[in-house]
Amino acid sequence: MNNSKKILLTGGAGYIGSHTAVELIQQNFEIVIVDDLSRSEARIIEGIENITNQRVNFYKGDCNDSLFLDNVFKKESIDSLIHFAAYKSVNESVDEPLLYYQNNLGSMINLLSAMKKHQMNKFIFSSSCTVYGQPDAMPVDENAPFKKAESPYGATKQMCERILEDTVNSNRNLKVISLRYFNPVGAHPSSLIGELPIGAPTNLVPYITQTAAGVREKLTVFGDDYDTADGSCVRDFIDVDDLAKAHVQAIKSIEKISGRYETFNLGTGRGETVLQIVKKFEEVTGVKLNYQIGARRAGDIEKIFANPAKAKEILGWQTKKSIGDSLLNAWNWEKKVRNIL
Ligand code: NAD
Ligand code: WQD
Repeated sequence: MNNSKKILLTGGAGYIGSHTAVELIQQNFEIVIVDDLSRSEARIIEGIENITNQRVNFYKGDCNDSLFLDNVFKKESIDSLIHFAAYKSVNESVDEPLLYYQNNLGSMINLLSAMKKHQMNKFIFSSSCTVYGQPDAMPVDENAPFKKAESPYGATKQMCERILEDTVNSNRNLKVISLRYFNPVGAHPSSLIGELPIGAPTNLVPYITQTAAGVREKLTVFGDDYDTADGSCVRDFIDVDDLAKAHVQAIKSIEKISGRYETFNLGTGRGETVLQIVKKFEEVTGVKLNYQIGARRAGDIEKIFANPAKAKEILGWQTKKSIGDSLLNAWNWEKKVRNIL
C-alpha cells in the first residue's frame, strides 16, 4: 500500500529527522529529505536506506537558499513538511547568537514563504521544552506560559512558535503543529543511525556514551544540591524512536485536528534524575562509568517533565520504550561509531 503523501523532511539527515524518516518509510509514506549536512553526515542517509531497504530521495542544500527550495518544490509534489533543520547547541548559541537567529529563524521564514508560493498548507515544527524555561508547576502542560528564554537557542524556538502562530492567523488554509520535545535520547535498535554530536557533546547521554567508550575521560554531573530526590537535576528523557512515531501520528492527524495552530508536549510524563540515568546506564550495559560530581551548570533548570496527556488524547500517541532500552541502544550506537566490539 502507498499512502501517496510526499512529506518533506528538512534536517532529515540529523538525529531526530533520520529516525522519523525511517518510521515514515516503514509506514509507507513517501519522503523527500533536504539537508545541508552542516551538522550531520551522508552516512546517516545510507543508514536510513539500509534499515528500510529503499533509496532515499535526498537533496543536499540550505533551507536559507530560496532558489534551492523553489527547485525542490517544483520537482517534487510535496503534501506536508516537517521542519527539523536548525542549530541546536545551547552553548554555541550563547557564543554565536547571530548564527542561531539567522539559521533558525531565517530557514523557517524561507520555508513558510516557499510554502505560500507553492500553496502547501501542512507544517510540523520541531519545538522544544526549552520554550517553558523553568515552569512554575510540574508536570508542565502546553498552557504553561513561556518564561524568558535561557539562551539565544531557546529564544529562537519561542520566536519560531510566535511566527508560526502569526502566519496561521494570516492564512486560513494553513495548519501547523509545533511538537515540543523534552530530552530525546537513544538510537535506532539496528545501530545504523543515531546521534552524531559535532565536537565534545554537551548533552548528557552522548557524554555518558563517549565517556564509556574512552573518548572522554570523565563525566561531570553538574550539581548534586538541587531540591530533587538525589540532588541532581530532573529531566524527561524520551526515546528517539518513540519521538519519531509521534511525527507519524502528527502527519496522520493534522487534517482532522480542529485548531489550525496546535502545540503538543512530547515526553514520557516521568522525571528522572541525572544520577539515576548514570546508574541505569551502568546497570543495562555492565560498563562502569567514570564520573564525578561538579558544580551546577549555568542556565540549568532544576526540574522539568512533561504532561503528555494532550498528545495521547489528540494524536493517539504515547511513549513505549523504557529508559534502559534507550540507554542500551545509545551505547550500541556509540560502540558502532567507535568500532568497539
Ligand atoms: P541535528 O543537529 O542532529 O539535526 C539537524 C539537521 O538539520 C542536521 O542534519 C543539519 O545538517 C541540518 N540543518 C541545519 N541547518 C540547516 C539548514 N539551514 N538547511 C538545511 N539543513 C540544515 O538535530 P536534532 O537533534 O535532530 O534536532 C532536530 C530539531 O529538533 C531541531 O530543530 C532541534 O532544535 C529540535 N530539538 C532537538 C532536541 C534535542 O535535544 N536533540 C530537543 C528539542 C528540540
Ligand atoms: C540534561 C541534564 C545537565 C551533561 C538541552 C536543551 C534543550 C533541549 C534538550 C533542544 C542537565 C546534566 C549534562 C553533562 C550533566 N534541546 N548534565 N553532565 O540541558 O536538559 O536540555 O537539550 O531543544 O533545549 O537546553 O539537556 O542533556 O544538556 O542536560 O550533569 O556532561 O544533564 O546539567 O541537568 P538539557 P542536557
